[in-house]
Amino acid sequence: MKKIFLIIPLALVLLVSCDREEFNSDNSIAVVEYPLANIASLKEAPYPIGGALTPNNLKNNAAYKQTVINEMTSMTSENAMKMANISRGRKQYFWDDVDYLVNFGIENKMRVHGHTLIWHNSTPAWITSFVGTKEDWKLIMKEYIQDVVGRYKGKIKSWDVVNEVIDDNGVLRESVWKKNIGEEFIALAFQYAHEADPDAILFYNEYGHEYSAARRLAVYQLAMKLKAENVPINGLGLQMHVPVTRSEADIRYAIFSAAKTGFKIHVSELDVALNPSLNKSFVLTNELLQQQKDVYRYAAKAMMELPVEQQYGITFWGVADPNSFLSSGPDFPAVFDFTYKRKPAYDGLLQGFYKK
Ligand code: G3I
Repeated sequence: MKKIFLIIPLALVLLVSCDREEFNSDNSIAVVEYPLANIASLKEAPYPIGGALTPNNLKNNAAYKQTVINEMTSMTSENAMKMANISRGRKQYFWDDVDYLVNFGIENKMRVHGHTLIWHNSTPAWITSFVGTKEDWKLIMKEYIQDVVGRYKGKIKSWDVVNEVIDDNGVLRESVWKKNIGEEFIALAFQYAHEADPDAILFYNEYGHEYSAARRLAVYQLAMKLKAENVPINGLGLQMHVPVTRSEADIRYAIFSAAKTGFKIHVSELDVALNPSLNKSFVLTNELLQQQKDVYRYAAKAMMELPVEQQYGITFWGVADPNSFLSSGPDFPAVFDFTYKRKPAYDGLLQGFYKK
């Protein structure tokens, strides 16, 4: 793995120039056409569309719950399925919120995606202070992954097995897992998850494909290495927390370059921030809502251009503006507004889904 990260500068130049060429020849921005939508709701979308949900909102906010039921065909959990929320000690688990979400998804015929098993940012205190050999560390990771994936076998259809292991320089991020197990913790996490549910679709989830060539390349290299080693990985999640200024080229390039791995592609945490600089006196305008519509449309359309078997779906990070993790910006990054009405972004998505 170390070698891979050492050759990044040269490989970056090669991959980027090669991608640019291919990008321009068959997906030129100039020829992207957006005919009028020929479907009327997200439920008719050609691939699953969902949101990151919280039990609290589903239990206490009728408009939120109804919007999810009316509009979504897939779902994940914003926080409840993270290790810091589930794991209360070795072999001690808090399942209530996960059970609630999984049951809600199944009752409403939604595809349930699990987010996320191994993330440096969600490590309970008992793990950060754990002392043991490499084998002990492998065992605690295996126990956790297999207890969680095993409990929801056949119910949670796919998992973000590993989340955000690449840092902004395109190198492997430091974490307790890397420190105590070594870089093989990534492959092992996939292997353990696969053993617990051989039918689960397993993703590596990452951010920044749309703005960083170094991150794109590092994800690509990691994915291809895992593939070459026959690690049971099936997909790449592209988070896509994007500002409204993100260009169509950037979004298409992110999706197409990840798809070169041949893996399923999940736009896994989509939101489009209107106030990324967190200006407290921000004013929402129709013009911004129209620009936001464009960005949602770019993502929907780029996904349409992938082979059908690679179109895993789009998941919004939240449901409506008031429950986005960005809402205190203030910001309005979602597809539904403060009254749960469809925003222009909704029509942008429908347009992006156009199919002859
Ligand atoms: O639930 C507690 C509450 O009881 C407590 O009073 C309050 C005090 O701060 O904290 C609440 O928990 C917060 C939780 O969100 C629910 O609001 C946590 O502190 C806070 O860290 C947590 O933030 C989440 C963050 O991941 C870290 O886990 C965000 O909601 C969530 O949107 C965000 O999602 C991540 C993805 O998992 C990975 N990709 C990036 C994305 C955005 O950062």
